[in-house]
Amino acid sequence: MSIRCLITAGPTREYFDPVRFISNPSSGKMGFAIAEAASALGWTVDLVAGPVSLPEPVGVMLYPVVTAEEMLRQTDALFGPCDVLIMTAAVSDWRPKVCLPEKLKKTGKNLSVELEPVPDILATLAQRRRPDQLLVGFAAETESVEENARTKLSQKKIDFIAANSVAGPAGAFGRDENQLILLGREGYRQVIGPASKKVVAQKLVAELSAALATRSC
Ligand code: C5P
Repeated sequence: MSIRCLITAGPTREYFDPVRFISNPSSGKMGFAIAEAASALGWTVDLVAGPVSLPEPVGVMLYPVVTAEEMLRQTDALFGPCDVLIMTAAVSDWRPKVCLPEKLKKTGKNLSVELEPVPDILATLAQRRRPDQLLVGFAAETESVEENARTKLSQKKIDFIAANSVAGPAGAFGRDENQLILLGREGYRQVIGPASKKVVAQKLVAELSAALATRSC
């Protein structure tokens, strides 16, 4: 069976003037490693990536985006035919309410920037999912990693969530190694790693492949 996989990776940037933005330190390494592992299994891979400094994975269709809104639009356009959606992107949860057309001048005074929530891409897509599609989220947490991830699994109405810690210098952001706790419905729980993101990606894709095989029986 040929599998079509849609992956998001990296951070988003949310600008309040043409040269300043809020974002996070996501490197995109986990998502790119998953894209490579999925492609190596023969899956067709669409990769929607925020601003990252990584080489384009071989055999993968890359769609660069910048903001959460752009990521939503691109992911939405590719979602229909996909069998598996893996959202590793560290989407900025807020964006400045206003983006000024010109660079804001220094005044020496405090500056308040009002933020508004960005759309939740995964939850939005989950509302119009087909039952045969597999939806996988990532939860980057600084505390109560597993508990918070389990809450997101049910709130976002998805099939799996991969929880990882982003607390302190040993956290997942930017590093070459990672450990995931993959949580699924009906108490499914699998610890993957610690290992290189490449190995973690291969094991994750193998787990998802097994889940897809069960589903199509
Ligand atoms: O930020 P949060 O912990 O809710 O992220 C959990 C999952 O939801 C991740 O897979 C992330 O890519 C996705 N997400 C999203 N849109 C957002 C925020 C998060 O799709 N605005």
